[in-house]
Amino acid sequence: MRFIICGGADSGKNTLAGRLPCHSISLFDGQLVLLDASSKRAEVQGAGSPDSSSLADELNADQDQSDAALRLFSADAAVILVDASTGMLTLGRQHSQLISQLGIRKVILAINKMDLVAYSEEVFQRIVDGFRGFARQIGLEHFIAIPLSALHGGNIAEPGDSMPWHHGATLTACLESMEAGIPRDDVISAANAPASVADQFEATIIWMHDAPMLPGRPYLLKLGAQTAAATVTGIKYQVNAGSPERLAAKNLQNNAVGVCNISVDRPITFDAYKDNRDRGGFILIDRESNNAAGLGLLHFALRRAQNIYMQQVDVDKASRAESKGQKPCMLWFTGLSGSGKSTIANLVEKRLHAMGCHTYLLDGDNVRHGLNKDLGFTEADRVENIRRVAEVGKLMVDAGLIVLVAFISPFRSERRLARELLEEGEFFEIFVDVPLSIAEERDPKGLYRKARSGQLKNFTGIDSPYEAPQTPEIHLDTTSISPDQAAELVVAAIMHKTVRSEASIQTHHSTVGSGG
Ligand code: ADX
Repeated sequence: MRFIICGGADSGKNTLAGRLPCHSISLFDGQLVLLDASSKRAEVQGAGSPDSSSLADELNADQDQSDAALRLFSADAAVILVDASTGMLTLGRQHSQLISQLGIRKVILAINKMDLVAYSEEVFQRIVDGFRGFARQIGLEHFIAIPLSALHGGNIAEPGDSMPWHHGATLTACLESMEAGIPRDDVISAANAPASVADQFEATIIWMHDAPMLPGRPYLLKLGAQTAAATVTGIKYQVNAGSPERLAAKNLQNNAVGVCNISVDRPITFDAYKDNRDRGGFILIDRESNNAAGLGLLHFALRRAQNIYMQQVDVDKASRAESKGQKPCMLWFTGLSGSGKSTIANLVEKRLHAMGCHTYLLDGDNVRHGLNKDLGFTEADRVENIRRVAEVGKLMVDAGLIVLVAFISPFRSERRLARELLEEGEFFEIFVDVPLSIAEERDPKGLYRKARSGQLKNFTGIDSPYEAPQTPEIHLDTTSISPDQAAELVVAAIMHKTVRSEASIQTHHSTVGSGG
């Protein structure tokens, strides 16, 4: 049987883990411990010692967070560990809610550290009674409560003699009496009722990451052995523990639960989570940190996904590019407001245009007057701003154009999304680098002054972050070179990377007078 132990940092879960006959242990989010209770305790390195810190170190050393998170979906039972001296705290409530959401119905409320409260039956009873009301609200009707001392071993494998008032089973006996769920095997489906396959779903998402979940941001989705790139296309509503209310939400903060539409870049096979927890449960991985960031419980495939097909067209990107005599690409200028993105992009476009290239410049300020005029400057809106311009830019590259994009584009995730929409070698990230102090000195639009005086909120570099590129194709230090020199550098760099086909570079050498 597989069970999870959850508890806060000081609830004693590592000490407890050390006393249980377990096969393998992994930590989830530093706050949940997953245990596989199928075999010997001797196989757990370091688990013989009840010294919680050394065990915790061992566990942390080689944990694979996302695997641990995936194993949540196959847990048969859960132990909610509470420190008797503090009672159940917010984190404990959140864990209980998670357990309920995941559909785990074999639940043990273990009140640990009874030695710290003089093994008081009254303290135990008060915590259990307090939990009962909350548990009912979140749908955990049944649970078994056990008072423990993980440190001294009371009521773990043996009752001990410190809590004679407890007449129930010990923790080990209780776990042993719980049966494992339906065996998890490969799926064989009948030819006339094949497993469901789709690339858009509705799902409940339980977010467990410091950075909020933002619609449009690229994540990795893992469902069983399948991995796909995924974005949440919309949050239908958010729900709170124990409340039937549906709240509007633009993002999901840490511990928020929302019902969302989600889209993946390739079809995956699945079941509804309520029918099959293994094939309906997925995790979302944050691509910057590579950590499991959210749990997903799949509801159903969106019908729109089944009725939209990619239309094959005969005139393709290659033929459109061919007739323009160029290799299409995207030049993505990123940098603080006032760094010179628009100025440099404009000069680059002028040069390319003079060489006979077919170009188009998408500038943040301009696109925000049209296509993106419904968007402001919150994180969520900036993600959507960049997602749209990346998609538009991709269409223009497909049309055979050399596309210049000049947006602050402050987040790595969305610049990565733009890069991944294109083919290898088509995307050039150009970091227009300027120290904040100099951008602020230039202040061409007077916006830094407004931001500093509090008249303008969420201003990049002031009270909204800018994540500088780590490995841009081109890095322009605008404190040491002029906009003209910067433009020259960009043109030179991309000429080398075959923006123009060989023949046309030859023809244009004489006009431009530069070596290319
Ligand atoms: S992005 O962050 O979403 O990529 P974008 O490039 O479209 O930004 O727009 C930035 C331009 O909007 C700036 O050049 C500036 O003129 C203007 N602007 C207005 N408010 C803000 C703000 N809060 N933060 C940054 N730029 C702002």
